[in-house]
Amino acid sequence: MDRKEKNKLKKYLLLQRDLGFEEFYLPESSRPAGKITVKRLGIDRFSEAESLFQLETTIKRCKRCPLGKTRTKFVFGVGNPDADIVFIGEAPGRDEDLQGIPFVGRAGKLLDKMLAEIGLNRNDVYIANILKCRPPENRDPESEEVDECLPYLIKQIKLIKPKVICSLGRVAAQRILQTTMSLGAMRGRWFDYHGIKFMVTYHPAAILRTNSYMAGALQDLRRLAKTVNSMENGSK
Ligand code: URA
Repeated sequence: MDRKEKNKLKKYLLLQRDLGFEEFYLPESSRPAGKITVKRLGIDRFSEAESLFQLETTIKRCKRCPLGKTRTKFVFGVGNPDADIVFIGEAPGRDEDLQGIPFVGRAGKLLDKMLAEIGLNRNDVYIANILKCRPPENRDPESEEVDECLPYLIKQIKLIKPKVICSLGRVAAQRILQTTMSLGAMRGRWFDYHGIKFMVTYHPAAILRTNSYMAGALQDLRRLAKTVNSMENGSK
């Protein structure tokens, strides 16, 4: 097995482990000689973090993708570490990159207003992105960047154990659910993400561009709030 193949295998194992799979089947042809252990493959230890703080400390100097070189600040996530609801956006923009906090620019201000509509503020929920670093010129995330970064988000979700996850926009939902479904096809239904209810609504930046999406987004958030309120307490 050459270095490139080994790296590919390492990435695959990382993702699978962070998705919760602990045993892997590898065909004979792709097994490195000798015993395979996570340690031997040089896998980072972030997955062993026991708190969001520990996780952030472990990963905040990440250079796993080129965005590690161009970012100003690493944008880990913000909010209640014990939140029932986790909102997931796409990637930090200029303001988020400067401040190191997700959704603090125009889209973030709108998100705050939308939360207020359902009686919440950003300290009640947790907010993160599928990428922790800003793509230059706010371009779409590259799939290699998401492959490197998504395990961090998955680990955050495992630590928070929310009742509901709400994807802000199509991109985050497609990457987390590993689907190519359109936003229209995903909106208005519940998905199951490893036992956690998962829904999708419009990205606040899309609402800023197309005002008429607001009514639908608020309808989605009201449904979300109703579902969370109707779920039994104490099951976290
Ligand atoms: N858009 C996002 O998807 N995330 C942010 O943090 C800011 C804008």
